Amino acid sequence: MTGQLSREEIRQRVDALGPWFHNLDLNGVSTAPVHFLGDYPTVKWRRFSHVVPDRLDGKSVLDIGCNAGFYAMEMKRRGADRVLGLDTDDEYLAQARFAADVSGLKIEFRKLSAYDVGTLGEKFDLVIFMGVLYHLRHPLLALDLIHEHVARDLLLFQSMLRGDDRVDSLETDYDFWTTAQFDRPGYPKLHFIEHKYADDPTNWWAPNRACVEAMLRSAGFAICAHPEDEVYLCRTTARPQAEGPVYPRRSEIR
Ligand SMILES: C[S@@+](CC[C@H](N)C(=O)[O-])C[C@H]1O[C@@H](n2cnc3c(N)ncnc32)[C@H](O)[C@@H]1O
Repeated sequence: MTGQLSREEIRQRVDALGPWFHNLDLNGVSTAPVHFLGDYPTVKWRRFSHVVPDRLDGKSVLDIGCNAGFYAMEMKRRGADRVLGLDTDDEYLAQARFAADVSGLKIEFRKLSAYDVGTLGEKFDLVIFMGVLYHLRHPLLALDLIHEHVARDLLLFQSMLRGDDRVDSLETDYDFWTTAQFDRPGYPKLHFIEHKYADDPTNWWAPNRACVEAMLRSAGFAICAHPEDEVYLCRTTARPQAEGPVYPRRSEIR
């Protein structure tokens, strides 16, 4: 148990577990006081926390790409019964386990990829998928799998956005010779990053606003609030053009 650690002991553990992406306040010890985005993610959370239900008693929450657990811990503080945080990075998971423990919050953290949510065999009332989409080589596959396997009701979503902010209204079909829409700034665009962006080789994609909104709809998530530039609260609906499982096993292919 780390509940009894002195401030100095917490400071030593925080240093040993660093560097941190999430700036957390652990009994007066800041984990990332100098962050290129400021007091992150607190400054961001303040801009959209009002769209998340105040109380989550009786609800389950899945935080995919939880990092050091900032959002998982906020959901537990709102009374969620069960909170499960997933990440692929052992060092972030160690930070999350330590932070939750010091904060006295009972949260499970597991090493699992967004692509493997189907192995959980469980649906969650609220799925958090913040800041992960553009780190994935197969972003739409991940959204589809989340929809198919784990999202029961709400999805809290965030993506880095780049390019034009406009959102065109789209036709449901375009003639083969009609091409002008592709050059319009408000058409959905997902910019591929072959090498690095912001010195990070895991930044694979930079969508524009029209693109994330279209991807969410296409995966079966209806946008119900857009409280912050990059953040969307969605409700799970039927996937348009659904034709069975996203990634069918051989036996399911007719
Ligand atoms: C930019 S951070 C976002 C952290 C947090 N969700 C937030 O919004 O502050 C991206 C996180 O996604 C994790 N991640 C990257 N690929 C992943 C994958 N395939 N499955 C689950 N998590 C992944 C990274 O390890 C990292 O912790």
